[in-house]
Amino acid sequence: MSSSTAEFESVELPKDHEFRFEVPYGAIMNLKIISGTAEYFGTEIPQHVLYKFSGEKGCIYTWHLDCVIQYSGPCTYKIASDTSMVSYLDVHAMIQKKREEAAQGSKKGPKVILVGPTDVGKSSLTKCLVSWASREKHNVIYIDVDIGQGNITVPGMISALQITQPLPIGRTEIPFYTPLCYFYGGVTFSDNPLLYKNQMDNLSRDVDMRCTNSPEVSSAGFIVNTCGWIEGLGYQLIIDTIEKFHCDIILVLGNDPLYENLRSKYNKGDVTVCKVPKSSGVVVRNPDFRRKARFERFKEYFYGSLGELKPHSLTISFDDVVLLKPSLNQDSNTISLIQMRPTEELVNSVVGVSHTKEHENVMSSNLAGYLVIEKVNIAQKNITVLSPSSGPLPFKYILVGTLKWMNK
Ligand SMILES: Nc1ncnc2c1ncn2[C@@H]1O[C@H](COP(=O)(O)OP(=O)(O)O)[C@@H](O)[C@H]1O
Ligand SMILES: [Mg+2]
Repeated sequence: MSSSTAEFESVELPKDHEFRFEVPYGAIMNLKIISGTAEYFGTEIPQHVLYKFSGEKGCIYTWHLDCVIQYSGPCTYKIASDTSMVSYLDVHAMIQKKREEAAQGSKKGPKVILVGPTDVGKSSLTKCLVSWASREKHNVIYIDVDIGQGNITVPGMISALQITQPLPIGRTEIPFYTPLCYFYGGVTFSDNPLLYKNQMDNLSRDVDMRCTNSPEVSSAGFIVNTCGWIEGLGYQLIIDTIEKFHCDIILVLGNDPLYENLRSKYNKGDVTVCKVPKSSGVVVRNPDFRRKARFERFKEYFYGSLGELKPHSLTISFDDVVLLKPSLNQDSNTISLIQMRPTEELVNSVVGVSHTKEHENVMSSNLAGYLVIEKVNIAQKNITVLSPSSGPLPFKYILVGTLKWMNK
């Protein structure tokens, strides 16, 4: 492992090797490719373009000779030859074949899901598969049902994104996408598994509609990234996800018993269950790193990944918002929306603005965006929220869960 804080240092990256790096939170590493070619989780890195990384553990990989990287800033790195990229490209080729068959009209596009414990490389492989597909002009739908990390949007939500170009690298100034998001409002499934299932129903309905309306999207198919909880309720939710999305390619990373269970349950007819090697470079993220990663995702939403956005404090009368908490109704085993009185306990809550004007549609609607409750003024009957935009709220129904965030 080498370490440096000096101005640009050059590193030669041999063919089929990884430059595995870690940059701490609060520090920025600048990196560029000055010769040859390389990619970051499936996205090609153009030569002489400066990228910034902060609070990131990742790897730059090259398929070819003569790759030279230059970097500056505090980071630790090592050059590794024990990469899984060739196996991952084989997985991509298998999926791509299905896309091509679907594009010729003979079959449906691939519906892929990645499952396995935490820190085996599911999210990283998902990114590679999505970006490689995009580079071959197949605009897949990228679905993230991992409420713990929030790869597409902030943590606590499930979301989908129609990919139109390879995923961005490191910290980019302007995110190019607007995802479709549904509110869960916490980072633990066991708090309300029924709400999670309800929101998966919503998301799978929308994805299905998108595929029905567009032959190109249908033949490109979709890729679902899941969380690392694979036992008990976690296993049941994996089964639920596979069935709701009618997945027909199940990629299992890093856990043989899970692979055996899913293989004996699903590996028949048109469904393929594949064992995929755990990424050899994968880094175990301790609870503190995960907490910091979640914190950063919220910060990025409001302030931009490089601090380029300016959120606004809006003061809104109690009369202009309706705070709703999705709660489990034990008797009927359904989700009810409980209207909440604004109280100081809500300060620092991250809440979702429901994209509907009708109360009865809140449970089936996606989100227009997120707010943080900064202040509740009972005497003056108003709340102050941190909002990404300066105008009045577009919708008045606000979903509340257990997510909290404080910018400190
Ligand atoms: N080959 C690699 N080299 C260095 N870091 C990697 C590599 N593959 C993955 N990582 C990092 O390891 C961490 C865990 O990987 P991730 O794909 O998020 O695992 P999972 O989704 O299974 O929990 C992430 O920070 C990711 O960027
Ligand atoms: Mg993950």
